[in-house]
Amino acid sequence: MWPLLLVSCLVWVNPATLAAPQYFDLDTWTPQQMAAFLGQYRQARVASPEEDINFNTDSLGLGDVSAVDVDSEGDLFIFHRAGRSWTSETFNNNVLSQSAQVPIVSNTILKVSPDNARLISTFGNNFFNMPHGLKVDSNDNLWVTDVGRHQVFRFPKNSTTPDLVLGEKFVPGSDSAHFCKPTDVAIASSGEFFVADGYCNSRILKFSKDGQFLTQWGNPYAGGRLTPFNFRIPHSVTLIENLNLLCVADRENQRALCYNAGLSNNAERAGTFNRTLIPEGDMGKVFAIYYNSADNTVVAASETSRVPYVQAGLIHYPARAYTYSITGVQTDVWARMTPQTARRGPSLIHDLCASHDGRHFFLADLPQQRVLRYTMTERPFFLQGYK
Ligand SMILES: *[C@@H]1O[C@H](CO)[C@@H](O)[C@H](O)[C@H]1NC(C)=O
Ligand SMILES: *[C@@H]1O[C@H](CO)[C@@H](O)[C@H](O)[C@H]1NC(C)=O
Repeated sequence: MWPLLLVSCLVWVNPATLAAPQYFDLDTWTPQQMAAFLGQYRQARVASPEEDINFNTDSLGLGDVSAVDVDSEGDLFIFHRAGRSWTSETFNNNVLSQSAQVPIVSNTILKVSPDNARLISTFGNNFFNMPHGLKVDSNDNLWVTDVGRHQVFRFPKNSTTPDLVLGEKFVPGSDSAHFCKPTDVAIASSGEFFVADGYCNSRILKFSKDGQFLTQWGNPYAGGRLTPFNFRIPHSVTLIENLNLLCVADRENQRALCYNAGLSNNAERAGTFNRTLIPEGDMGKVFAIYYNSADNTVVAASETSRVPYVQAGLIHYPARAYTYSITGVQTDVWARMTPQTARRGPSLIHDLCASHDGRHFFLADLPQQRVLRYTMTERPFFLQGYK
């Protein structure tokens, strides 16, 4: 909460102090503004995630990093595109072009140490065409989505052969046996799971633990009043199981919404709207959401903040991560990526996850081709009325 609280206090106290931008970002403050402001408040200690600069994935040789998650032992799984990139030539009418139908030759799934990014194991070569989502369920099954193949796969623990395949290879569709560029999956401890589908369909599908279609909801936004059932790229899903909720990052509508998941004894409620998790426009496009069960919060990431910078003559919007309460209140802004920390041009946090203790966060920076680790760090700060 503190950065926004500070900003709103300052603006309320003296609206003339900050000119121009409609939205504020501490990065835009001058040292004089910061000093004048901090002088009014007494010291307190607050915790916020900060980057561990010793965690470095460069030696892994990652391509565009699409997704991350941790298994039951806390090891980190990474799904990346190796040498492939998603360009305007990749698809024709949602069907992969001939050249992109050749699978990626390199291993695309890596298991690494969450402490130092040391490689533990790797697989997934000569199989995937356009990696997208990755999740590890509570039984350590590994689930991935491939937007090029229009499919969802489940790999049992330690297995490199899927035991469940949904969707038809290279064939987009919108019935219950086809997807169109499915983005992500979320798996309940019961084994029931949800698929976010995706770039061309605007829906969420629910399946039984055996992969039987149960229900679906959502449709494209066609203008007019935006309802909780109009999606524009449902890009990331996360379950809050203790509340029986499935939350959806509705990327292009710049919001995240939660629906009753209808797990176990509440099947008939699946897909009914429950609450707003990230209000429309609160943080820009919502690329990823992840429920941090240790902390009962949700972390989220976007491509942009609202304060661009210019590098090499081009305007970039720096990546940011956010923390939200499960009642939809933004409580922190972090991962303040700058032109200095982004070494290879712009950053985009395409996915993120939390460690089981809720203290570490792993951020998949797609164009920077690396995974960053952030750790909750306590430090002094100044906050009005803080006790
Ligand atoms: C899975 O692989 C790990 C090493 O990566 C090994 O220690 C473990 O015994 C394996 N488990 C099973 C069930 O094969
Ligand atoms: C929202 O979810 C909570 C937690 O499961 C539940 O108690 C409440 O009844 C739900 N509300 C609606 C409107 O679905």
